[in-house]
Amino acid sequence: MSFAFDIQARDGRARSGVLRTTRGDIRTPAFMPVGTAATVKAMRPESVRETGADILLGNTYHLMLRPGAERIARLGGLHRFMNWDGPILTDSGGFQVMSLASLRKLTEAGVRFSSHIDGSKHVLSPESSMEIQRLLGSDIVMAFDECPALPADKARIAASMRLSMRWAQRSRDAFGDRPGHALFGIQQGGLARDLREESAEALRAIGFDGYAIGGLAVGEGQAAMFEVLDHAPQMLPEDRPRYLMGVGKPDDIVGAVLRGVDMFDCVLPSRSGRTGQAWTRRGPVNLRNARHRDDPRPLDESCTCPACRGYSRAYLHHVTRADEIIGSMLLTWHNLQYYQDLMAGLRQAIADGDLAGFIAAFDRQRAEGDI
Ligand code: GUN
Ligand code: ZN
Repeated sequence: MSFAFDIQARDGRARSGVLRTTRGDIRTPAFMPVGTAATVKAMRPESVRETGADILLGNTYHLMLRPGAERIARLGGLHRFMNWDGPILTDSGGFQVMSLASLRKLTEAGVRFSSHIDGSKHVLSPESSMEIQRLLGSDIVMAFDECPALPADKARIAASMRLSMRWAQRSRDAFGDRPGHALFGIQQGGLARDLREESAEALRAIGFDGYAIGGLAVGEGQAAMFEVLDHAPQMLPEDRPRYLMGVGKPDDIVGAVLRGVDMFDCVLPSRSGRTGQAWTRRGPVNLRNARHRDDPRPLDESCTCPACRGYSRAYLHHVTRADEIIGSMLLTWHNLQYYQDLMAGLRQAIADGDLAGFIAAFDRQRAEGDI
């Protein structure tokens, strides 16, 4: 059984709709805040919800290492553990092993690695990743895949993609039939159109509840990513959600929605909030900059978040410079609010059939620059 996906409006290749899960509706295009270690850092879950988020992302890799999937299962599952009762999508771990773990050994069976936390040795495979995501109680489970580090030649990317497609079949078999839970496949193939097509064909033959586009935003640059997105989304089933993993900056998201993507996740709004970087209608703003030191105005007078309602740029500058915890809290909230407002604007524009007008206004405001 898979979640209903109701596409309610289209504008060109862009779609807006609702993915109906047992834990609530996900309005698409959707942005999923990243809650890697069972927390969206510096935010309480009810605050994340207040920004307009319908779903969070969690990570198999981090949670299996600490506090452990069995422990979370004994404590009632990830939703209860972190006090978020909406849907949760979990990434499958392979991608994080490749970027975070040490002493990695990749075989047909899976990947052995040492924990980045304490050096302890672990194994992840399609089967163990499905089991860990089941123990966590994830609503949307990601197939176990692999993504080669760049730069990589085409033969390496092809071999890696074909391994990921064999793992996709094993993920499907191990996942089995779990009413109320969805399994998404992940397309790989780097920047090569023929490999993307081969990957999409393999995934369609297996059959998934949704389809992710993986292996992008790994240093290729926006132009190269958009070239892939000019064809990759249409290779995936039209009637199922399409999820672009790990993307991105606001303009990356806008360009990907225009090309037919429905779901996104990225650490950028939360991580950059903790370094003093804000995202606004007028582009990025670094609150550490001395130009804000005496500025009594809010970060963005049109934003409804607590940082913009109650505090001046001067205060945000001060707490950011002084490394005060509230600086991370306020800027994370603002950034997540900005991202959710952007998604709501995109959904409305698609419903109104005026995505082009929305994007023109988006570009114009950013070109004006910060106040
Ligand atoms: N996050 C960002 N890119 C990827 C990818 O290619 N695969 C997985 N599993 N997660 C990702
Ligand atoms: Zn704000």
